[in-house]
Amino acid sequence: MNITRRRWITGSAQLTMAAMMPWSLRADQPEVPAIHLQARESSANWLDAPTPIWDYSQSTLRLQQGVTQRIRVTNHLTEPTTVHWHGLRVSNAMDGVSGLTQTPIEPGATFDYDILSPDAGTFWFHSHHNTIEQLARGLYGALIVSGENEPVFEQDWTLLIDDWRLTQGGQIDPAFKNLHSQSHGGRMGNFLTINHQAGPWQEKAHAGDRVRLRLVNTATNRILQLRASFPGAQLLAKDGQPLTRPEPVPDLLILGPGERMDLGWLARDSGQLLEVSGSNSLVVAQLAVEPKQGPRTPLYPNAMTLPLNPMPAVSTGSDRRVPLLLEGGAMGRLGTAQYQGKALGFRELIAKGQAWALSGQAGMPEVPLFKARRGETIELALDNSTAFPHTLHWHGHHVWADGRWQDSLTITRGQKKTVQLVAYNPGKWLIHCHMIDHQATGMMTWFEVV
Ligand code: C2O
Ligand code: CU
Repeated sequence: MNITRRRWITGSAQLTMAAMMPWSLRADQPEVPAIHLQARESSANWLDAPTPIWDYSQSTLRLQQGVTQRIRVTNHLTEPTTVHWHGLRVSNAMDGVSGLTQTPIEPGATFDYDILSPDAGTFWFHSHHNTIEQLARGLYGALIVSGENEPVFEQDWTLLIDDWRLTQGGQIDPAFKNLHSQSHGGRMGNFLTINHQAGPWQEKAHAGDRVRLRLVNTATNRILQLRASFPGAQLLAKDGQPLTRPEPVPDLLILGPGERMDLGWLARDSGQLLEVSGSNSLVVAQLAVEPKQGPRTPLYPNAMTLPLNPMPAVSTGSDRRVPLLLEGGAMGRLGTAQYQGKALGFRELIAKGQAWALSGQAGMPEVPLFKARRGETIELALDNSTAFPHTLHWHGHHVWADGRWQDSLTITRGQKKTVQLVAYNPGKWLIHCHMIDHQATGMMTWFEVV
């Protein structure tokens, strides 16, 4: 079986404190039945022979903004696991970070997550325990939170785009930990899926339909480079947070691991979404537009603007500036870093499986990068001194970066950027590179809000 990337293409604003509190219950909380979610062993039919994968019993979870939803997770795997609700501003105890916010769910055990999202938008959920393997084996799904005043879309499509590394025999490559790739761009795949299915993904719309396209990069390490040929499409939201004003979709959409983008498209002519980060471009999605009988939908371009979520106000004169230096990796200049309380040189770090550091610390430090009071605005001075791009992810908070709210941010090599973090959600929260190979080999820290 010849599995190469080639094969895919041929083969197949201002807010009160109360509104800032994500855990504040809505007075009219309706009775919502619990969702049962199983983490399990499964199999995919991508090639001639089945590919064993791990997945969840539901590929998409739908929540209502401001309504607490109990999600009862049962672990049917043979190893412990947790579930993290990526981008949701949940209360700390529900964040699903093994070792920081909870002990992992043992095989056969169940854990109840009570999830209350203050935001409507596009999110995803995934394992946050032994992530390097569990995410690469397929433990993730879509998390769609609907709001009450969202505009109507005739079509609403979610695309979880993944990059799997398969062996010639069509099995998931079991070599999850390879220090060489970990100290470079990370384990790259050779097989593209959309929503756990082999690509390309195909759908039909009628001319005049308003289409919402929710793009999620669920890959462990690959930064997707997407070329969208949907004339007139607009960028509506990033990481679940609507833009103040929709923007034209750029020619090339750069979507790092964990990042999301919502596009709004008034369907006229058939369109295509290509992935061009590899040596061959791949068709991710093929969207056919068919003529519509009867009256045309009136075309109001602004009709797709999404209502803003209740985000905190960013104070202009920030209270504090905290440097966040990205260091290490191959061709980097990392001298020494603290690891488990000891200062180690690069070679010693490598011997301990560490290749990256954040502000002088490799791996999970004992003390947080910073401690903030609720309501404080922290200015984070990002400085990527490495020879690689990274996608930083903040838990429990979005940062204000490049004029938008983002929970995941791709920073190119050598880039410096200042972002604002309004601390408001109490607890201990991770900051890490969402290239899981980098996270697993040192690029991880945390902050605390008190
Ligand atoms: Cu998408 Cu720390 O997670
Ligand atoms: Cu990284």
